[in-house]
Amino acid sequence: MIRLHPIAQGFLLLGTIIWSTVLSAQETDSASGLIKAEGWQVVQSTCTECHAALLITQNAGNRAVWESRIRWMQETQGLRLLAVEEEQTILDYLESNYPQKAASRRAVLPAQLMPSNPYEAED
Ligand code: HEC
Repeated sequence: MIRLHPIAQGFLLLGTIIWSTVLSAQETDSASGLIKAEGWQVVQSTCTECHAALLITQNAGNRAVWESRIRWMQETQGLRLLAVEEEQTILDYLESNYPQKAASRRAVLPAQLMPSNPYEAED
């Protein structure tokens, strides 16, 4: 095995940490928190008039879900009608940057991994 000087080990560790941060970093706008991907400025200018972008960034959904939220705001919250291309750009952005999340709870344990049930009838 190659033995590294402790200082070299430190640099290696630091490099690994920095590199993994760079790889996982998704650039976000510091003011709104929106992911800086295609169409983000359209979303910022259209969707942060009435509420903070946090309402968007904390939400997730497929295209149909996002579209239904837009319709709901148009029907009940005074969101204006959006031009076709404008709406496509917004939906493309939302669908790809804030997609439906996979279930966030872990799967149920299989029966053989469960502890024995002390209340089970002994017969
Ligand atoms: C005319 C004002 C207005 C504009 C513009 C607006 N919204 Fe909203 N939106 C609202 C209101 C009001 C609510 C409800 C806020 C609350 O529940 O506190 C809301 C709620 C939401 C929610 C939360 C819905 C839920 O199910 O919890 C999301 C997501 C959202 N807006 C996204 C957007 C997006 C995306 C756009 C741009 C297309 C947008 N909003 C533009 C008024 C607006």
